[in-house]
Order: sequence, then structure tokens, then C-alpha cells
Amino acid sequence: MLPNFVLTGFMGCGKSTVGRRLATLTGHRFVDTDDLIVKTQNKSIPEIFAEVGEEGFRDIEQAVLADLVGVAGIVLSTGGGAILRQENREALQQVGIIVWLDAEPDILFERASRSTRRPLLQTDNPRESFDRLFEARKSIYESLANFRFDSTNIDHDTVARRVLEQAMRFHAQRP
Ligand code: S3P
Repeated sequence: MLPNFVLTGFMGCGKSTVGRRLATLTGHRFVDTDDLIVKTQNKSIPEIFAEVGEEGFRDIEQAVLADLVGVAGIVLSTGGGAILRQENREALQQVGIIVWLDAEPDILFERASRSTRRPLLQTDNPRESFDRLFEARKSIYESLANFRFDSTNIDHDTVARRVLEQAMRFHAQRP
């Protein structure tokens, strides 16, 4: 049985697109924490942020992640901030091999700011907000992930294939 794969990384790094392709390649089920949050709450992410704030959103995110521990046969795409809580980091480590999907900050920002469904970038100065969050989170992605994959200038299909190869190499070497 193949292990589970967990995609972490900043908004705009391509977790959902790459995750779907990884699921196709492996036959695993694709699971996206943001989709689960929207489904369980029956509200959009901006609506949840507006109603209960970021901490309220994080509580829901934590509950959704806790429910995934022990589930096999999945590729899990996580929201960019899912790595912020220690409880979540422990849950993700139990779920599967953790990949930090990264890219050059300009590319991440350009992709992340295309959508209005990201409340943390709906500010007076989105680039400043992006830079601040990115700086604060970089070391967390780094220390949590089993490996980092830089997807700058690589198409999503190739990223998925290479991430799978690297994850399987990591898996084979694990004690
Ligand atoms: C967030 C990232 C979003 C979503 C929410 C908060 C974050 O997910 O969970 O807006 O804190 O970085 P994506 O990384 O899929 O955009």
C-alpha cells in the first residue's frame, strides 16, 4: 500500500492542482482541507473569516485535520496556514509524507492574489501582507516537511511526477 501524501506550502504554490494530479497518479483519493471546511460549515472561507475570525477558522481547520488521522489512501492538500498550530503539525506527521511545495515569492504572490477567496490577502497592501506571512511561515514549512520541492517554472504534471518520485525515495529510505 502506498503511503499518504501531504502537500503543504504557501497560498498559490499549487497544492490543490498538484494534489489532484498526484491522486490520479497514485489512485489515492484527493482531499483538500479548505474544501472540507467549506463543506462542513456550508459557508465560504471569506464568510467563515468574517463571522468567526482567523482563530475561529483555525479551530475548524484543526478539527478537520484531526479527523483525517488514521485515514489511508489519500493525497491531502492543506491550507497555507494549517502548519501554524502544533496540534496540526503532529496530525500531519501522522497522516503521511509531508511535502513543502514552494516557488519564487513573486510567482506565489501573483498566483495567490488572483483570487478574492483568500481573506489574509484582502488588505490595503496585499504584497506587504504576503511578505510578512511568508517570512513568518517559511521556517515552519521547512522544519515540518520531509522535503521541499521548488516548482518554479515547472508545469503541474511534471511537478506531480517528480514529487511522487521524491516521496517514494524518501519512503523507501525511512527506517
Ligand atoms: C490560508 C490559506 C488558504 C485558506 C485560508 C487561510 C493561510 O488556503 O486556508 O484562506 O493562512 O495561508 P490556500 O493555501 O489553499 O490558499
